[in-house]
Amino acid sequence: MTDETRMAPAEQPEGGREAGALPVALPAAQVGGESKEKYYVRFTLPQRYLHAVLFSSFLGLAATGLPMRFSENAVARQLASAVGGFGAILFFHKFCAIVLTLAFLYHLKDLAVRVLHGEKGIFWGPTSMVANWKDVQDIIGHLKWFVGLGPKPKFERYAYWEKFDYWAVFWGMIVIGFSGYAMWFAPFFARFLPGWALNAVLVVHGEEALLAILFIFSIHFVNTHLRPGSFPMDMVIFTGKETEEEFKKKRTLEYERLAAAGKLEAKVGDKPVYWWVNFAKIVGTIAITLGLVMLVLTLFGYFGGR
Ligand code: HEM
Repeated sequence: MTDETRMAPAEQPEGGREAGALPVALPAAQVGGESKEKYYVRFTLPQRYLHAVLFSSFLGLAATGLPMRFSENAVARQLASAVGGFGAILFFHKFCAIVLTLAFLYHLKDLAVRVLHGEKGIFWGPTSMVANWKDVQDIIGHLKWFVGLGPKPKFERYAYWEKFDYWAVFWGMIVIGFSGYAMWFAPFFARFLPGWALNAVLVVHGEEALLAILFIFSIHFVNTHLRPGSFPMDMVIFTGKETEEEFKKKRTLEYERLAAAGKLEAKVGDKPVYWWVNFAKIVGTIAITLGLVMLVLTLFGYFGGR
């Protein structure tokens, strides 16, 4: 939810530098010093690791789930036989499911710790992930701006579409995860659930998974990476940093709020090192390409031939 006040001491940026965040930053002087651009920390190292685990396990689940979902399809069958059959595909699917479940549980634990420590603003306020009245106003304002009927809204730490993305994944994890485990451990769940429910979970799992695949690989990709201002890729989830110009432009209200409270300097970080930015670009390009390929395959599987 909010993470502004939540960073544990071990992950707190010290004067902007994340402790132990070696793949990320060196003092600007060491990377040539030619840029006078200021960088601000948006995501901590654990948050970026969590996102990396989330997207790689999700890609694995989609890549293994789709052939099972469209097992009648000739491409799916060829793919399955190339990797050892549908049994092998299911094995990899379950492996990725365990990784994603652990990531989700880690996130829940993180939230619980923050609530128990009495973190203020986790359920409300400018940095919360919970939707509020301003989000409604922003949606209306944004729609008006799209058609030239008003000024562009200014956003806080999380814009309404970022909250939507977050809750879509959160909700998806509960529905897809529960139905997945109900299929995996059907004899156990049969002790509590009627027979029809065990049949229903297969439909729920398959359809909700397709929805998640379509959502992530189209709307989430466009929202975060492909929209003007971020195209072709928003590197902030990999580097954790954004320039002052990006910060001011994309999250104007957060910038102004921190400046007014004198908290802006505490967020200053070093310029991300070149090798890490380049590595992240390669990883990001592979992930986005795989996602777009799976988006096309999903549409083809759904509407296309055998
Ligand atoms: C904790 C998470 C998950 C678990 C435990 C899980 C488990 C399973 C299991 C056991 C099956 C096999 C069903 C069978 O025997 O036929 C399955 C199928 C499938 N899974 Fe998952 N899964 C999880 C997450 C996901 C996610 C995130 C996606 C999408 C990205 C996904 C997509 C699919 C698809 C498309 C199928 C085929 C459904 C069908 O045949 O209609 N799964 N899953």
